[in-house]
Amino acid sequence: MTQENRKTAATQNWDKAGWRAYPRVQMPDYLDSPALEAVEEQLRRYPPLVFAGEARRLKSQLADVSEGRGFLLQGGDCAESFSEFSADNLRDTFKVILQMAVVLTWGAQMPVVKVGRMAGQFAKPRSAPTETISGTELPSYRGDIINGFDFTPEARIPDPQRMLAAYTQAAASLNLLRAFSTGGFADMQRVQSWIADFVGGPEAAKYREIAGRISDAMAFMQAAGVNSDTAHQLSKVDFYTSHEALLLEYEEALARIDSTSGLPVAGSGHMIWIGDRTRQPDGAHVEFARGVQNPIGLKCGPSTTADDLKVLMAKLNPENEAGRLTLIARFGAGKVGDHLPRLVQAVKEEGAKVVWSCDPMHGNVIKSSTGYKTRAFDSILREVREFFGVHQAEGTIPGGVHFEMTGKDVTECTGGVRAVTDEDLSDRYHTACDPRLNASQSLELAFLVAEELRARREGAAAELAAKAV
Ligand code: PEP
Ligand code: CO
Repeated sequence: MTQENRKTAATQNWDKAGWRAYPRVQMPDYLDSPALEAVEEQLRRYPPLVFAGEARRLKSQLADVSEGRGFLLQGGDCAESFSEFSADNLRDTFKVILQMAVVLTWGAQMPVVKVGRMAGQFAKPRSAPTETISGTELPSYRGDIINGFDFTPEARIPDPQRMLAAYTQAAASLNLLRAFSTGGFADMQRVQSWIADFVGGPEAAKYREIAGRISDAMAFMQAAGVNSDTAHQLSKVDFYTSHEALLLEYEEALARIDSTSGLPVAGSGHMIWIGDRTRQPDGAHVEFARGVQNPIGLKCGPSTTADDLKVLMAKLNPENEAGRLTLIARFGAGKVGDHLPRLVQAVKEEGAKVVWSCDPMHGNVIKSSTGYKTRAFDSILREVREFFGVHQAEGTIPGGVHFEMTGKDVTECTGGVRAVTDEDLSDRYHTACDPRLNASQSLELAFLVAEELRARREGAAAELAAKAV
């Protein structure tokens, strides 16, 4: 397909401000229009945070994932916040994502594409427009880019200035992440030391065994003569950013024309996704996303019908370009079998090229006995396993996982080898929105997913061998 044809198909009748004519949900009503317009004008003049070539590179890596030659790991905060912003937090989350990626690379025996929910994940859809505490009703908190977390009428007023603060934080975050990615930070040799505090029980022994096998593989690579060139390669890492493209004034202001292709690109992050609450086929969010060239994620919850999905795929990926569209399934443990098969069928019927990823977080939120919004480690793991099971039965590719996690030792999700209980949740419950896996739970999950990937590969190999006899 020529560039001109593609432009005609994908960006026909598209303008970065075109979404304004479509029904919008989950977006704030700014009361002070001149203040909003001044902020938009300023953002239009600021540099983009990412470049088109980087988004293209991620798209080509996701194309490999869609064809079974890679695995996607996407993770980070539910909501980044201004108050939790620090170099240490960024470093710790980045480090755990890299550790998880090493473990998953061993499990999948394939490159792992690493995408942070970072440097732009500020805007939140909410289940209710208002929140009531002790008889006082106020507008819901919608993420630091929109309003404030404090439960006061002033804090909850949407303030456009917050977009500038979010841009600045995203720029500073990306700057540090880029430095970490190229500066040799990625020393990933000491696998055993990562799980030094996993003690006792059969699980810990299993993780130690896997860690030993990964260390052996690494030692072998070194002994086999990783020369200084490849050593240099190993100290670098491709790391991408992503967020939900919810606040369209911000997204529009950072959209740019890629000078190479002449096509529009979102400059706010490498990958953007459409949330489960904003994926109306005729809504503003789909309208915006269809015209930018970045890889696009689409959250698919229990209410997604096969017909909706077909319309959305046609709108978001009319050229059926591999790597363009990642479908992020989020149904809840015990419900994957009820919903995923019809969507997998729809994708097959359309011959659509997609990455299938599993978000085992958003269908598994419960209220703990101690009153905290939490998620149980076992439900998260169970949903991932169900996701793999459906793909195995359908003969399709489980391409990745999507987690809400942090590198800090928080107590927000229950369970794991260093068991967090309902009573522990109050100790270090810091999230601005949904409960995140802590560093140890994240790493443990990576071990379990790696084991699953490994078993499925070995199962497939055994099946092939049996057929050959
Ligand atoms: C999220 O990813 O934080 C989110 C709100 O997800 P979903 O749209 O799937 O509910
Ligand atoms: Co969330």
